Amino acid sequence: MEDERLIAPEAQENEDRVDLSLRPKTLAEFIGQPTIKENLGIFLQAAKGRNEPCEHVLLYGPPGLGKTTLAHVIAREMEANIKVTSGPALERVGDLAAILTNLEDGDILFVDEIHRMNRNIEEVLYPAMEDYALDIVIGKGPAARTLRLDLKRFTLIGATTRLSLMSAPLRDRFGGIYHLNFYGPDEMAAIVERSARLLGLAMDMPTAGAIASRSRRTPRIANRLLKRVRDFAQVRTAGQLDPETVAAALEALNIDARGLDETDRRGLAAIIEKFNGGPVGLSTLAAAMSEEMDTLEDVIEPFLLQEGFIARTPRGRVATELAYKHLGKPIPEHLAQNGLFDSQQ
Ligand SMILES: Nc1ncnc2c1ncn2[C@@H]1O[C@H](COP(=O)(O)OP(=O)(O)O)[C@@H](O)[C@H]1O
Ligand SMILES: [Mg+2]
Repeated sequence: MEDERLIAPEAQENEDRVDLSLRPKTLAEFIGQPTIKENLGIFLQAAKGRNEPCEHVLLYGPPGLGKTTLAHVIAREMEANIKVTSGPALERVGDLAAILTNLEDGDILFVDEIHRMNRNIEEVLYPAMEDYALDIVIGKGPAARTLRLDLKRFTLIGATTRLSLMSAPLRDRFGGIYHLNFYGPDEMAAIVERSARLLGLAMDMPTAGAIASRSRRTPRIANRLLKRVRDFAQVRTAGQLDPETVAAALEALNIDARGLDETDRRGLAAIIEKFNGGPVGLSTLAAAMSEEMDTLEDVIEPFLLQEGFIARTPRGRVATELAYKHLGKPIPEHLAQNGLFDSQQ
């Protein structure tokens, strides 16, 4: 993991496979997201009661919050088989057609990163989702005709980090659309406590809370930090796990008390130093930080916004008073006086 960011919420190589043991398997085991749990519970129970496959489900939200986990939970709750693919993995129309024609009645097809699917492949999904049908074009030019194949009744579950990049016709074909939000502090602590238990570690709530509070409200990051803390404790403190160990371990990893890493701090420092506190547009900021626009937009910005370190204005992002305080910079007068950016909208 040398050059990978420790608190990047995207899964790192092999990580999801390793984490399989930590993944909640049922809706009851799934911590947090109470609105989704309630609505999804009703949605699934109703479909089961009617003895039908459930309607197509779209899960969206930032990486690491539980979309893939929920897709598997749904399959488990419906007692259905799940086939997994992703938008970028589907290169030709034939790839999707082959998957669709192999589905059995009630099967679930999970398409991760569905916003990255090719438009012409996406169009194959429309009749498949709506009528359980596959339209195949035979021949070319004026002699071309369409052949319609029947598909089994399946459920599509799509996951995306970018709802805005999905076409309206595709979006409209989902019966349930669920937005995963960042987790609250208590939920995060409960997730850490649960994972620690599954890893066979004895951990009290203050210690779990210390890890949770630095995990960007993201379960995937919490699990990753938990493992690094476990390593640290094993080597440095004879396995002793307490909030002090957590602080020392994460400090060694350059993650500060608010869960910001080097890149986050560099972003804040750039806004403050290079752009006079802002406003600055995201693409300009990305260029100034030599950071990928995607990373800035999907990962860094949502967290800094959510935590109130930056704010959105019509002309771009600005550093808040909290950002100045956090970096130990003198607070400019306009912020100190009117406190305009103290609270987040
Ligand atoms: N609500 C939750 N409760 C407990 N653990 C969770 C929860 N959501 C996610 N996780 C853990 O976080 C990891 C990442 O979740 P995942 O479903 O892969 O996120 P996504 O698909 O949204 O990127 C999983 O390995 C899982 O163990
Ligand atoms: Mg996923």
